Amino acid sequence: MLMTPATSVAIPYSVLPADAAPAPEAGPPHILLVDDEESIRVALSRFLRSRGYQVTAVGAASAAIDLLERDRCALVLCDVRMPGMTGLELLPAALARDPELAVVMLTAVNDAHTATEAIALGAADYLVKPIELADLQTAVERALHRRTMLQERRRVERLVRDEVSARTAELEREQAALRATNVAVAETLIHAMEAKDPFLRGHSQRVAELAASIAAELDLDADTVEAVRIAGRLHDVGKIGTREAVLNKPGPLTDEELEHVRDHVRMGSEILSPLTHLGPALRFILDHHERPDGAGYPRHLAGEEISLGGKILAAADAFDALTSRRAYRPALQAGEAIELLETKVGTQLDPEVFAALRRCVLRRRSLTFIE
Ligand SMILES: [Fe+2]
Ligand SMILES: [Fe+2]
Repeated sequence: MLMTPATSVAIPYSVLPADAAPAPEAGPPHILLVDDEESIRVALSRFLRSRGYQVTAVGAASAAIDLLERDRCALVLCDVRMPGMTGLELLPAALARDPELAVVMLTAVNDAHTATEAIALGAADYLVKPIELADLQTAVERALHRRTMLQERRRVERLVRDEVSARTAELEREQAALRATNVAVAETLIHAMEAKDPFLRGHSQRVAELAASIAAELDLDADTVEAVRIAGRLHDVGKIGTREAVLNKPGPLTDEELEHVRDHVRMGSEILSPLTHLGPALRFILDHHERPDGAGYPRHLAGEEISLGGKILAAADAFDALTSRRAYRPALQAGEAIELLETKVGTQLDPEVFAALRRCVLRRRSLTFIE
């Protein structure tokens, strides 16, 4: 008598990739028979061999475990009541060694509880003694079929998992490339703009490098240092919308012109707003003309309201402006620029950021000296 076998999940071959078909195992299925009664071992082994199976029969659970350590079996036919380790104890130990192993239990009459427990522990089926050989054959075939299905399912799951992770990695690579392209496009705008203005040439690149050095000097984490660098490269992209006549005007600006120039922060933020992957860099760019004393723009933030990245950009921007030639004055030496900027600490520049800027500049000068 047999119970209804546990339902196996069949996957139609048509949906399987060509290489997902189960790998055929060499030779006839290997069955391990575990029973302490020799007469049963002899009778069942003889029958199973006559049906073409390869059979190993052992009289104790411990011998079965030894064999499972050495050999791969397709199916274990296992008595429940045995001296020493019982069949119910052997079952989880065997499945732990090979989760795809098919296990059929041999139970005594009227032991429904044991049978249920065996199924719950992962047995494929059980047979009640005395065993009808025809039932044995059906149970073995069914358990082996279930095992094949299980192996197939695991194989497909593995393939799907591999495929998903490969596609995810590919997608991430594409997204990273797209993000890099977006930044590159914005940089192209900046280069085009800087190319028209001899006083601005290379400004964004220099601000980016100096700002990243200051961020590293302040011990910010690598992601933030990178965000500061990108913000430096893009901080003046809004100047693309500034009238050339105003941008290159040698003399002082009128109030209207000054407002127009200041509008580059708002325009830059608008241009870059679709590039949400820039994350904190967007905020740093928006803050790059704010001042600790609240006299900056566009939002007139003060003190701690200004992002640290914004304060760093402001310091690097001011240093680069002073050390670059302008239509109305020559470039200052690094030391002169630092001296001048020191007078702006607390009003235009954050004290800690300025101190980090000074350390970076001093280090650069000593490096130049060594060279
Ligand atoms: Fe700016
Ligand atoms: Fe700038």
